[in-house]
Amino acid sequence: MDHSGGLPELLKLIPAAELYANANGIKCLKRHFKQDWNFREIKSGDTLKIGKRTLTFLTTPMVHWPDNQFTYCPEEKILFSNDGFGQHIASNERFAKDIPSGIVLEEAKKYYANIVLPYSKQVQKVLEAAGKWDINMICPSHGVIWTAENIPVILSAYHNWAHNIADRHRALIIYDTMWKSTQKLAYTIASAFEEEGINAQMLNLQTNHISDIMTAVLDAKFIAVGSPTLNSSILPTVAAFLYYLKGLSPRNKIGLSFGSYGWGGQSIPIIHQLLGDPKECGFTMLEPIQEQYIPDSEELNLIKNNLRQQIQTCREEQ
Ligand SMILES: Cc1cc2nc3c(=O)[nH]c(=O)nc-3n(C[C@H](O)[C@H](O)[C@H](O)COP(=O)(O)O)c2cc1C
Repeated sequence: MDHSGGLPELLKLIPAAELYANANGIKCLKRHFKQDWNFREIKSGDTLKIGKRTLTFLTTPMVHWPDNQFTYCPEEKILFSNDGFGQHIASNERFAKDIPSGIVLEEAKKYYANIVLPYSKQVQKVLEAAGKWDINMICPSHGVIWTAENIPVILSAYHNWAHNIADRHRALIIYDTMWKSTQKLAYTIASAFEEEGINAQMLNLQTNHISDIMTAVLDAKFIAVGSPTLNSSILPTVAAFLYYLKGLSPRNKIGLSFGSYGWGGQSIPIIHQLLGDPKECGFTMLEPIQEQYIPDSEELNLIKNNLRQQIQTCREEQ
């Protein structure tokens, strides 16, 4: 029922039209529009003849709404994939091949990380089922159309994203700070990763939108999150990010909590719990890093060396 905003207007123009939807679709459309239209229920595996062509349906619940389904037209080898393989691109171009491939893939990644990620298990099943079809074109309901040139690229990316395959050579250092002590820790953590041959990306929450950070989270192995202690808690920007992160359920990550504090130091255990608790993000956690007030160079060196050792241990265990 998502993307169905125009239905009432359309059905005013063609009131006798039959509306084909699966059981969940009919239920949600009735609830949303409070109209008893001319519904025809379809089930997964059903086919519908529409003149010279046929439509085959595959229900794909929760990719990304309860009633989602793929529709395949064998005569044209077109897959209408609904939310799957979508991107938030609004452009004059209609096809992915007409947009620089780096941009379109990054947008597909951003869409997956921020919309589809919690449903990765369902995506795995759908990829398997749809793998039986010979596909020349994928038409998602968001963004541009994928054609033969780049279908293998997006299918392979979806395989990696759905299976939570992360790059062990990428670390994200996500933080906010009031007076830059936590930022000093952030730079030291980045140096530790870099010196261990792991690419570290600094993401200050004051200048990076959480949806862009999630895109980076999708395929990074190490996720470090830092906040100073504020009123026995964490900074609101960090709280917003952590709750957004938890909802999107990335898996298979190694986490690290860090922060500067004045007296109670509550921010570090709060972040540690939100990242590490199996009921929260469920990441495997490194030792938390905390420093009272402004860390000096000796303390920063100690932190760096200790973290480097932990990274080496992770490498040995992999
Ligand atoms: C408004 C305010 C509230 C604070 N509340 C706490 C607190 O509840 N517990 C604590 O340990 N430190 C508290 N602090 C101290 C900071 O955590 C400390 O100064 C820290 O070094 C700041 O790190 P930053 O430079 O990364 O912002 C507070 C500081 C400010 C300005």
